[in-house]
Amino acid sequence: MSDQVEGNPGKVLVVYYSVSGNTARVARDIAKALNADVESLRDRNHGTGFWGYLKAGLNAARGIATTLGDTSFNPRNYDLTIVGTPVWAWHMTPAIRTYLERHGTELGNVAFFVTSGDTDAERIVPSMESIVKRPAVAFTGFNGRQLADAGVYSRRLDDFLKSLKRPATLQTGDGRRAGAQAGAQVSGA
Ligand SMILES: Cc1cc2nc3c(=O)[nH]c(=O)nc-3n(C[C@H](O)[C@H](O)[C@H](O)COP(=O)(O)O)c2cc1C
Repeated sequence: MSDQVEGNPGKVLVVYYSVSGNTARVARDIAKALNADVESLRDRNHGTGFWGYLKAGLNAARGIATTLGDTSFNPRNYDLTIVGTPVWAWHMTPAIRTYLERHGTELGNVAFFVTSGDTDAERIVPSMESIVKRPAVAFTGFNGRQLADAGVYSRRLDDFLKSLKRPATLQTGDGRRAGAQAGAQVSGA
């Protein structure tokens, strides 16, 4: 852990799972902006194709855990862990569920981002918070339309990054306020 200075989220780890690249893109952009380490999760049980996606959706909706590949970074060493998941069947992916279940108690501050076709982050984030047993200091989501529009995408990303750097957020842990703001500022965009 590093000494946090005002307006700086400290040492940051970005953890994500991605199959078709959307969540990976957001993770890379966040990591670049915050000079963060990046952990890309591998799921040994979920593949692509019709049957792969059917199983993926069913297992996500049922809250079933999965087998992850080896990870490289210890989240205990970070002030803030930012976790990103695609939405599968209106739920977080099994890979992210498994990671949060395994490491939830080791995490410092947490923030979340979600990518989806059209499901809002607000639908997914409460279940992520309930696994780690604390509110996110901030959260945001990117649906298909927002991912496709470069201007909207970068505004949403900036709002999220700003909400992470707002010192009151991290010091008080009042994440719902920051999270709501991160989404609300660009609602309807
Ligand atoms: C199995 C499966 C289930 C999905 N279910 C949903 C869903 O319930 N709601 C939604 O908005 N998008 C859904 N999607 C779309 C993905 O959430 C979206 O494309 C996401 O950005 C993919 O992230 P990735 O490119 O990082 O893998 C689903 C995609 C897959 C493959």
